[in-house]
Amino acid sequence: MSIEVYQERLFTLQTAHTSYVFCINEQGIAENLYWGKKIQRTEDFADVSTQHVFVNVNGPQSIQEECSSYGSMRYKETSLRLQFFDGVDDFRYRGCEYKIDGNVLEIVLKDIFYSFSVHLFYQVFEEEDIIKKWRVAENTGKEPVILDRIYSGEFGLFGSGYRAINYNGRWGAEFLREEDSITYGKKVYESLYGLSGHTVNPAFIVHRDGTETTGEVYYGVLEYSGDFKTVIEAVNCGYLNILIGINDTDFQWKLAGGESFTTPAVYGGYSDQGFQEMTHCLTRLSRNYLMPKKKANQVLPVLYNSWYATLFDVKCDEQIALARKAADTGVELFVIDDGWFTGRKNDKAGLGDWFVDREKFPQGLEPLIRVVNELGMKFGVWIEPEMVNPDSDLYREHPEWIYCYKNREVLMGRNQYMLDMTNGEVIDYLTQIFHKLLSENKIDYIKWDMNRYAAERGSASLPKEEWQTIAWRNTQGVYTLIERLRSRHPEVEFEACASGGARVDYGAMRYFDEYWPSDNTDPLDRLMIQESYSYLYPVKYMRAWLTDDFGMNRRKIPLAFSMHSAMCGSLGIGVNLNQISEEDKEQIADYVQQYKEVRATIQMGELYRLQSLQDGDLQALCYNDEDRSVLFVFLDHQRYGATCHEVKLRGLCEDALYRYKIEETEAVKSGAYLMQQGILLKLQGDYDSRMIILEKQK
Ligand code: DGJ
Repeated sequence: MSIEVYQERLFTLQTAHTSYVFCINEQGIAENLYWGKKIQRTEDFADVSTQHVFVNVNGPQSIQEECSSYGSMRYKETSLRLQFFDGVDDFRYRGCEYKIDGNVLEIVLKDIFYSFSVHLFYQVFEEEDIIKKWRVAENTGKEPVILDRIYSGEFGLFGSGYRAINYNGRWGAEFLREEDSITYGKKVYESLYGLSGHTVNPAFIVHRDGTETTGEVYYGVLEYSGDFKTVIEAVNCGYLNILIGINDTDFQWKLAGGESFTTPAVYGGYSDQGFQEMTHCLTRLSRNYLMPKKKANQVLPVLYNSWYATLFDVKCDEQIALARKAADTGVELFVIDDGWFTGRKNDKAGLGDWFVDREKFPQGLEPLIRVVNELGMKFGVWIEPEMVNPDSDLYREHPEWIYCYKNREVLMGRNQYMLDMTNGEVIDYLTQIFHKLLSENKIDYIKWDMNRYAAERGSASLPKEEWQTIAWRNTQGVYTLIERLRSRHPEVEFEACASGGARVDYGAMRYFDEYWPSDNTDPLDRLMIQESYSYLYPVKYMRAWLTDDFGMNRRKIPLAFSMHSAMCGSLGIGVNLNQISEEDKEQIADYVQQYKEVRATIQMGELYRLQSLQDGDLQALCYNDEDRSVLFVFLDHQRYGATCHEVKLRGLCEDALYRYKIEETEAVKSGAYLMQQGILLKLQGDYDSRMIILEKQK
C-alpha cells in the first residue's frame, strides 16, 4: 500500500525506497515527521514530534508543518497568506478530514470559524520514489476571500548542515550550478521575469554530504513556467523549511463564494545515493508521466537549424541549398529559424504577422518543403507566438492586445511587446493563425521561442483589481494556446526555447517534446551547462547543436570535441553548410551516423556523470541501457604532461561482458572490471575527446 493511515491521525506515503510521514498532532496541526529512506512500520511514528528545541514561542513556529499559514505566532516564511472579508488574516484549522483515492491522499483543513478550506493533495509515484503535492483553496462561504500567497508545497527537514543547490544563470550562461550552506536565515530563489527565466530554476536540491553516488539529497521540481519562488529557511527551531510555488510578489487572487484555486504541483523526492539517483528518478517520472505521450518513448530526429547560418537573412534558394547539404550529413529534420515571415528583416519588425514572406518565398514555403521531403527529411519552422513588434500589421490593427499601462510608455525588450495572453480574443486569434499555418503547410516541427521578460502587468481586458492575477493568467494563456495547437496537430513535434534556456521547467514539459538549453553552443561551455542541466532534466530534453564559432569565447575547438559535446544530448547541426569544405561535411556525416547508431541509449538510457571538469581534468559521462554503454570523455587542456586518464564506469551489470574498441584495439571486459579497475585512456593536448561504445555481450 502506498498510503497508510494509522489511528486516523498518522499518514505515511510509501514509495519503493522512501517514506514520507506526517500526522495531525495534539494541537490539531498537520506536522511533517519524516522524509527519507523507507521505514515500513508506520506506528513507529505514533509518539514522534518535531519540536526539538526549547524556544520562547510555542506552537507552529517550532514544528515542521505541512501547511504553515501566516499569523498565529508564526514568524517563519509561511506557505499560505490570505484575508477574510473582515480583515482577519490568519487561517486556523484544527484537525483534518481525509480521503484516499488510489494513490492520491487528500487532506482537508477547515478553518475553525470561516467557511474556507485548504485541500492538501499527495500523489505517490511508487516506482519513481516521488511524491507529488498540490493544493486547492476553497471558499465555501458567501463572502470573498483574498489569497495573497499559496505555495504548492512545504517540506520540513529536521536538523542542520544542509546545503542548497540551484543555478545562477543568464543568457548564454544558463544552468551554472551553485551551492550554498543554509545555516541561518533564508535563501530565496525566484523569478519575476514572466517565465521561469535564465537565472534560477523552479526547483530545489538540498543535501547533506551529497556526491554523485552518496549522501542524502532532497529535491523538488515545480510544474509551472511562470514567476515562481522557492524559499529555503533555516528556522531557528532546529529545522529547514522549504516552500515552493507561485511567486507571491505579483500574485493575488480573489475567491468569491463557492470558488476555488488550484496551485501548480511540486514533485518531491529523496535519494540516499546522491545526485545520480535523483536524476534517474526524475527522468523516469518525466518519461512515464509528464512528457507528451506521443513522443515520450521515441527518439528525437537529428535536426538542422538555420539560425546561426543565415540569421534573419532567409532566402528560399539558399535554404534549399542548405537542405540538400543537411540531407547529405544525415539530418532528418530541417528547420528554418527566425526570418521566414512577413516583414522580418531583423528583430525590429514582423512578429505577429505569421504569414510567409512573399519576398523571400515568392511561392510560399511549398517549394522548400517539397525539396526537404524529397530529400527524406521532415520540415519545421520557428515561431514566437506571445510577442508582437510595434512594426507589424497585427500591432497596428490591435494596439490594445499588449500588456501596458495607459499613461506610460510601454517598455520594449528585443524591440517587442508582449501580447496579452490573459485575453481570450488574443488566444483565439493566435490559435486560428497557427492552426492555419500548420494546416496549409506540411510542418512537422515547431520551435516555440520567447525572447523578452515581462514589464507591465496591466491588461485592457481585465479590471485593474485583477492585475495581480496577470502573471499567473499569462502562463495559463500560453499553456492553453499550445494545448489547442497540439490537440489539433498531434503529430507535430514542439520544442521550447526562450532566448536559449529561459523556459526550461517542469511546467513546460507537459506541452513540449524537447528544450533548447542555451544559445551558447561553445562546445566547452556547453559541457558545463549540459552537466548541470542534466541534474534535473532528461538528456532527451537537451537539444545540442554543432555550430560555427559565433564568437562567444573566440576559441577554436576541433570538430571531434565539438561533435562529441553535441552528441551528449539530442543532436542538431547549425553550421553554415553552404560554406564548409566537402571534407568537413563528410566528417560531420560520419559523426551523425555514429550518433544515430547509439542515440536510443543516449536519449533514453540512464545517465551517469562519472567525472566533472569542475573537480578535475576530465569530463566523463556514460549512458547505459540494456544493450550497451556509451562513454564520452573530454579533456579541455592537458596539464603537466599527463597523458593517461583513468575512467571508471558505473551502472553496468557486474557479470556481463562488454566489447569495445579503443583506437584500433578491441577488448572484452566484465562490467565489474570496467567499474572497479576502469578504462585507461590516452588524451592529449587541448580539446581532446573520445566516444567509446561498450556493447553488452548476450
Ligand atoms: C533566440 C533563440 O534562443 C535562438 O535560438 C533563435 O531562435 C533566435 N531567438 C531567433 O530570433
